[in-house]
Amino acid sequence: MRYARISGTGSFLPERIVSNSELALELSTRNILTSDRWIVERTGIHQRHLAKSNVTSSQLAIEAAKLALNKAHLEPLDLDLIIVATSTPDHVFPSTACLVQTALGATKSAAFDIQAACSGFIYALIIAENFICAGNMQNLLVIGSEVFSKLIDWNDRNTCVLFGDGAGATVVTASLTSGIISTHMMSDGNLTDILSVKGNIANGKIIGDPFLRMDGQSVFKKAILALEDSARLVCDRANINPNDIDWFIPHQANIRILHLVAQRLGISMKKIVITLDKHANTSAASIPLALDKACNDNRIKPGDLVLMQGVGAGFTWGSVLMRI
Ligand code: UT7
Repeated sequence: MRYARISGTGSFLPERIVSNSELALELSTRNILTSDRWIVERTGIHQRHLAKSNVTSSQLAIEAAKLALNKAHLEPLDLDLIIVATSTPDHVFPSTACLVQTALGATKSAAFDIQAACSGFIYALIIAENFICAGNMQNLLVIGSEVFSKLIDWNDRNTCVLFGDGAGATVVTASLTSGIISTHMMSDGNLTDILSVKGNIANGKIIGDPFLRMDGQSVFKKAILALEDSARLVCDRANINPNDIDWFIPHQANIRILHLVAQRLGISMKKIVITLDKHANTSAASIPLALDKACNDNRIKPGDLVLMQGVGAGFTWGSVLMRI
């Protein structure tokens, strides 16, 4: 049996940390009212990292990728494929993955981006697993990288307090012993309106709204149902009970979603890896950022069973169950 195993993780966050109180103060100068208390109570977020305006997704991705390669004891020339999951690419084209490829000097690799919003990392990991299981690739780099601050309407308190910037990278390697055990991915294009950035570039102009818009309550309710169903499916396929997992790494959007999904699945709260307090919602980067954190602080150990779940615009969602 050939498995896809995560052999290295890395992450990178912009230096500037903005606390809820600092953000609330800044917003108050434009008569936009929010508070540390509201943000913490409704989301669990305490702070976020925000990139300078000239920082791009590829720059964050490159730093995270170097660290992941180092952990995997691999060189860029060992890579067969680079996939970057992002909704904030540097350009329309070339892909952010091609920019990462050239910066690393991974000249024996193919490279492309995928866009599945906050589910992007899970989608990209499942794509990587399929290339490995098909038998024609050995080492892949799967990255989630975002500068979501560029999509935020800083006059909309419903959304501007929720997001942050960052990148997480994983090296995915073919293995005969352990790795990804079961996966699931799904979309519902009927729900495009509940979370979107509808603007596009045409004829030298931005046509439509260039900012992120969200019907938070609809997303909240759909996320809980989708994540619960998807988790049950991957656990059933692997013939395990959800509480048999050692670590639960859901997309980091809202602490209430994380708790409710874990509760419905019977997963102990102690098993949830939480980084949204420090990072806020970093979209496609949130899961690899959390995975890297929990590997670095030795919570996740070799042999552990880990369930990762993404959910976001599209509507898209999915799960990966893997043995580390
Ligand atoms: O990454 C993709 C996945 N994204 C998600 O999963 C996000 C899912 N949704 C959520 O996390 C939550 O729905 C939010 C955090 C976005 C909002 O929380 P909520 O409990 O659903 O609040 P709400 O939208 O129902 O708003 C409650 C009140 C409203 O005031 P009224 O109408 O009750 O007077 C809002 O205007 O809170 C108000 N409000 C705020 N107040 C202070 C909304 N944003 C803020 C704010 N500060 N930043």
